[in-house]
Formats: sequence, structure tokens, C-alpha cells
Amino acid sequence: MLFDHFEYKGVRLAQKVYSEESIGYVENELKVLDDDIFNVSYPKSGTNWMAEILTLIKHNGDATICQSIPIFERAPWQELVGFQEKEKKLTQPRIISSHLPQHLFAKSFFKSKAKIIYTMRNPKDIIVSLFHFTKIVKIFKECENFQQLIEDFVKGNALYGSWFDHVKGWMQVKDDSRFFFITYEELLKDPRGSVVKLSKFLGKQLDDGQIDSVLKHSSFNNMKENKMSNWTQMKSDLFDHTKGSFIRKGVSGDWKNHFTVAQSEYFDKIYQEKMKDLNMSFFWEQF
Ligand code: A3P
Repeated sequence: MLFDHFEYKGVRLAQKVYSEESIGYVENELKVLDDDIFNVSYPKSGTNWMAEILTLIKHNGDATICQSIPIFERAPWQELVGFQEKEKKLTQPRIISSHLPQHLFAKSFFKSKAKIIYTMRNPKDIIVSLFHFTKIVKIFKECENFQQLIEDFVKGNALYGSWFDHVKGWMQVKDDSRFFFITYEELLKDPRGSVVKLSKFLGKQLDDGQIDSVLKHSSFNNMKENKMSNWTQMKSDLFDHTKGSFIRKGVSGDWKNHFTVAQSEYFDKIYQEKMKDLNMSFFWEQF
């Protein structure tokens, strides 16, 4: 995966959109508030979907904010250059997105009562999603060789470094009561049950009508059409919207349309090796 990058404490990040200062601010200076809600994931795991769900839960199903403020302003990524300006405009409880690995996360989080929702996804579908993402985001040199992308991904030569390290790092704190762990596949399979659990975790009592509204406005089709959620408001110097959609396909198992049998076996072997110490099974492994 090719992009102009720098390394920060072992993690690969893109130049210009991140800087040592922007990451250092999160790590050391960000003042986490006790009611902050962090939306954390490795890229392409369903971060925007979760941001939309959290925003709708916060507003009891009312979609006004989702339809009037771009997603990257109302649930901004804390590690991006420019976050501090966005931070000033957030209302409490703040919804803050992040792809940072655990070891780079805001130190003040660990002393606060703030909460983290960590969304994970089948890494093979992440690779497919990334493949298409490199076409539309201008920081990447378009990836034409899918095999190369798989190899880069397993070596951690990707934006935010190794997926395996990301997951393993966050799993170290998974038993903490401020931490909610969910997969993209569970969200797809049982959106209502997932929203009910999330609301409970956030201390919100939503009635059936409000939950219906959360589900309606966070659905794939609604988000794809909503120009405040589909990233078409993002400046064209960063995104080329003629090359594809950010809200692309929204399914699980699209890897089967992209991986050859050999590529799938190669990936599975590395996955087994790298994940074996975790002694955990993940929802997507059932399919
Ligand atoms: P695909 O490229 O497989 O379609 P992130 O937000 O972390 O960048 O993840 C992007 C992925 O989430 C994309 O996957 C995108 O289509 C999918 N996605 C976004 N909104 C969704 C929704 N409401 N329902 C299902 N998938 C969604």
C-alpha cells in the first residue's frame, strides 16, 4: 500500500493529513471528558456506520444533525490535522472517532469514565474495502495489484500499521467496563439487537420508534444518499468522487469475489498464526 508516510512509535501514518503534533496532541494533551464516546476501529471496519449510529442514539433517533453536519465534523477523527478546531464545536456527549492503536490512545482516557466502542471486521473484507478506497482517496497511489495489497496488509505496511497488532492491542482492555466490542458482521446480522445493546451501554433508554429511526437513518441506502454521511462534502483535493463511493457495497463476504483460493489460503494461514495467542473466536469466523 503506497502513500507518503512517516512512522510514529511504530505506526505508519500518511504525511500531511497526520503529523507528529496531531498525534502527540491526542496522546498527551487531549482532555478526555467523562461523558466522551470514542468510536474506535481499524480503517474500513465500519467506522462511519458506527459514527452514524452513535450520533442517532445520542439524539434519540432524530436525524437532523446527521442530515445537516458532515460526519467528519460531528464525529471527527481525533488524530487528524485540524481536529482541535473541530473539537471546539463538539457538543456533549462528544462523539470522537479514531483509528489509533491502543498504545497511542489519549493517556487521559485511561483515567476517565469515558467509553470506547471498538468495531472490528473480517480482515479479508477490510482488504477488499481498502483496495477500492485507494482509488478514491488521493493520498494513496492507486493499488492495482491485489496480491501486493494482501502482502502489505499482513506485513503491517498499511495506514495505521498492522491490523493484527491493532486488534490484539485493543483486546488487552476488552474486559474493562468502559469498553464495548462489536463486529461489523454482528451489526449486519442483527442491527436492532446491536442498537439496543449499544444504547444500554451508553445509558440511553430509546423507545421502539426511536430505535426504528436509528435503524432507518443509519441504513446503508440512507447513508449512501445522505451527502452529510457519504463524504461527498470532503474537499476534492483529498477525494476523487468520480472513482467510486465511500459507502461502497456494505456486505460481508465480498472477499470471496476478490481473493483467489490460493490468496485466501495464504491469508488464513497467517491469520491462524498471528491470532492464536489471543484464544478468542470472532463472529466472522462462523461464516
Ligand atoms: P465496503 O467498502 O466493503 O462497502 P469505514 O467507515 O471504517 O471506512 O468502513 C467503510 C466500510 O463500511 C465500507 O465497506 C462501507 O461501504 C461500509 N459501510 C458504511 N456505511 C454502512 C452502512 N450503513 N451499512 C453497512 N456498511 C456500511
